[in-house]
Amino acid sequence: MYICICSGVTDSDIKRCVEQKGVEDIRGLKAELGACGQCGKCIPEARRLLSACHGEKTFVKSGLKAA
Ligand code: FES
Repeated sequence: MYICICSGVTDSDIKRCVEQKGVEDIRGLKAELGACGQCGKCIPEARRLLSACHGEKTFVKSGLKAA
């Protein structure tokens, strides 16, 4: 699903960027993917996705595994 239409960035692109490059915020997404730098309408959804990704990382680091 496209998150940033202006830059053609998808949720998968953002998840990959978090996992592989350790991006933690909107500034990082702008630098790595060019996302969120034009109209800005995608920023709330991009933030939600970043939070979800980091929640998953915390969950995995804690040693718990999803069923
Ligand atoms: S939709 Fe992302 S900057 Fe416009």
